[in-house]
Amino acid sequence: MGSVKSSVKGWKAAAARLAVVIAIVVQTLGLRALWAQELAEPRLDEEIAKQQKIFQRRGADVPGGYVTGRGLSDYAELLPTGFCDALGRLGSSDRWLDIGAGAGQAILDYSAPEGDAPSGEKCARSASKARAVALSIEDRRTDNWRERAASLGHDRIRYLSGKSLRHYSLEELGKFQIITDVFGGFTYTADLSRFVDKVLTLLEVGGSFYTLVPGVHLEGGDKLGTWYLTELENAAGRPEKVCSWLKKCTCAKVTCESKSDWKRPTELIKVEKVCSDVSVPRMKLLEFVAGYPPDRRFQLER
Ligand SMILES: C[S@@+](CC[C@H](N)C(=O)[O-])C[C@H]1O[C@@H](n2cnc3c(N)ncnc32)[C@H](O)[C@@H]1O
Repeated sequence: MGSVKSSVKGWKAAAARLAVVIAIVVQTLGLRALWAQELAEPRLDEEIAKQQKIFQRRGADVPGGYVTGRGLSDYAELLPTGFCDALGRLGSSDRWLDIGAGAGQAILDYSAPEGDAPSGEKCARSASKARAVALSIEDRRTDNWRERAASLGHDRIRYLSGKSLRHYSLEELGKFQIITDVFGGFTYTADLSRFVDKVLTLLEVGGSFYTLVPGVHLEGGDKLGTWYLTELENAAGRPEKVCSWLKKCTCAKVTCESKSDWKRPTELIKVEKVCSDVSVPRMKLLEFVAGYPPDRRFQLER
């Protein structure tokens, strides 16, 4: 009887010691995580500030890889199948938003008068043209843009600059049938889920977002030896593909075309808004290194 009692006592003491050790480990890990977070946040802020400086570079200072003048034919090659047809179907009361428009060349090509289309134009022309809005953080309007905007009049083409997409309200921008993003906010933002949420808010039900994202894990499988630019992970820290994450959004029909043979593995993405009750699973920024484009790592929040 005595030996049973003493072994229960011994077991209780061991359990108490283990609880103390666990408490110390948990506290240490917790403090470490907090410390790592405190160290990481100023570094993220510094990199995001560096990124803003890249956007503002001018003339010979603009890095070669920071391309701002892609035309509509480039958009036709880079965006998912169906973009040109969808653009061609828009009527004069419809609206197209190009996020991260750079100099707005794609919209300039689209709005060119009949017979004045750039040679080799890959998007078929339609007689009626939608109103188009070009959005860029920095103002890269050309004289060509100003002249075309003035000759078309009535705000048929508009250029908005001075802030990123997240700082515009729905009331300021209104809704759109087509939203595009070619190496714009989707590739550069430090807040991917908020960006997608804003895009879906700005789309009319039945409207579509056409974009691409370079240097990602592809839905159709990865190539060995790839340098990834945008990496996503789930809440447990395991890799998450950009398309599998987007497919978790409500009211969004997502189609992906994996381009594994491009210089960087690239996902061409079409997101159709199918109902109005949109929600986007939150992604937290873990890493951001400024560049053109930047390196980013995000983690799905629980
Ligand atoms: C590399 S340029 C691409 C320009 C154009 N799409 C092209 O292909 O020539 C990047 C553009 O994205 C814009 N941009 C980046 N992040 C953005 C954001 N969060 N909101 C709006 N524009 C953004 C920049 O201001 C710039 O106009």
